[in-house]
Amino acid sequence: MNSKYIDAMEKITLIGPFKQIIPMTGLPLKGALNDSQLSIIADGGIVLKNERIIAIGTFESLKAIYTHAHIHHLKGNHVCVPGFIDCHTHICFGGSRANDYAMRNAGSSYLEIAKSGGGIWDTVTQTRKSTQEQLVKSTIKLANRHLKNGTTTIEVKSGYGLTVNEELKMLRAIKIANIEALADLVPTCLAAHMLPKNFKGTEVEYLNEMSKKLFPVLLKEQLANRIDAFIEQSAFSPVQVQPYFEIAKQMGFHITVHADQFTPSGSKVAIDFHAISADHLEASTDKEVHLLANSTTIATALPGASIGLGCAFAPARKILDAGGALAIASDHNPGSAPMGDLLTQASILGTFEKLTNTEVLAGITFRAAAALNLTDRGILKEGGLADLAVFHTSNYQDILYNQGNLKPCMVWKNGSLVYDKHN
Ligand code: NIG
Ligand code: FE
Repeated sequence: MNSKYIDAMEKITLIGPFKQIIPMTGLPLKGALNDSQLSIIADGGIVLKNERIIAIGTFESLKAIYTHAHIHHLKGNHVCVPGFIDCHTHICFGGSRANDYAMRNAGSSYLEIAKSGGGIWDTVTQTRKSTQEQLVKSTIKLANRHLKNGTTTIEVKSGYGLTVNEELKMLRAIKIANIEALADLVPTCLAAHMLPKNFKGTEVEYLNEMSKKLFPVLLKEQLANRIDAFIEQSAFSPVQVQPYFEIAKQMGFHITVHADQFTPSGSKVAIDFHAISADHLEASTDKEVHLLANSTTIATALPGASIGLGCAFAPARKILDAGGALAIASDHNPGSAPMGDLLTQASILGTFEKLTNTEVLAGITFRAAAALNLTDRGILKEGGLADLAVFHTSNYQDILYNQGNLKPCMVWKNGSLVYDKHN
């Protein structure tokens, strides 16, 4: 079969020339990274077939090989990086917590507001009042906003329902939103977010009911294969979570944990259960850093929560230096992290924690993909998904240097141009 026939049949597209392509290839999952380790393809091109990348190299060499490909010709300077992966969000919710934010800035703490009936419980009340359809619409709206900022895969948690039916409403909304949203949504069940104030029973009884009645439906309707728990003084203790996670593991779910946000304890549970990730870590001490670095659990920093609450950042530098795998996510939620701008937050974390450009980019691409158990994205490689964030610049360093103010001019998802600033 000649190449003309193949090209015509397969709708092959060559994009370029890019001043630089940053494929994020050849880097380890764990440990510190120097910018000298970052591979850069100068004057590059990317060849797509349907939703996948089939070749990456210099534009001219690819043009000579794929003679009949449709060329998406770029004028001016462009840099291409893998579409970003936000591996921890709560973008399915009802209501607003602008009043919590004002109260915190006026001196009340997050935990004080939670104890007085605000905080997560306020969002639970508002989310329960929302219809499934309203949640579908608001989730799509936020997901599409993130897409324009270069994020092509977004993890989305439940956790504002906190009854079997209300958690199902959220997870069904996320599943439906995923059909229409331009980014891929990865659902996680966070029924263990807090003990709902109207539950008549103990924490253990609540978690037992959720594992018995909710988990089987999650599998049956394919609503989520990830189980999260908030391990904290205001939520659930390690001992309370133990049987819940044991059942989840037996049923084949991946485990992820809201860990060490205000007090250290959750990361140890995450490691003991071989959780795929332990997220937050603002209160992790050297002991937890060491445990995480010597585990298979990805440590996910959530700078948006530090910025939203005015708290310390997770010890990202120490985690990397100790040999850990560091992902960075936005934690976008109405309470602790209302901004929801992954690139801005990752850039700021880099400034405060002294992270190299390569470490920050790794944290929002292939290391974040690992936190979601995804191997087909976060790296630009042959056979991988064609998820691309393209910036109007000649130097990749400008992406973090502008601290989120340089937005992508184009975003490609699954091989389709889904956002083009020029149009
Ligand atoms: O990741 N820490 C617990 N859960 C969320 C906050 C949720 C909320 O405040 O609504 C977090 O920060
Ligand atoms: Fe969170």
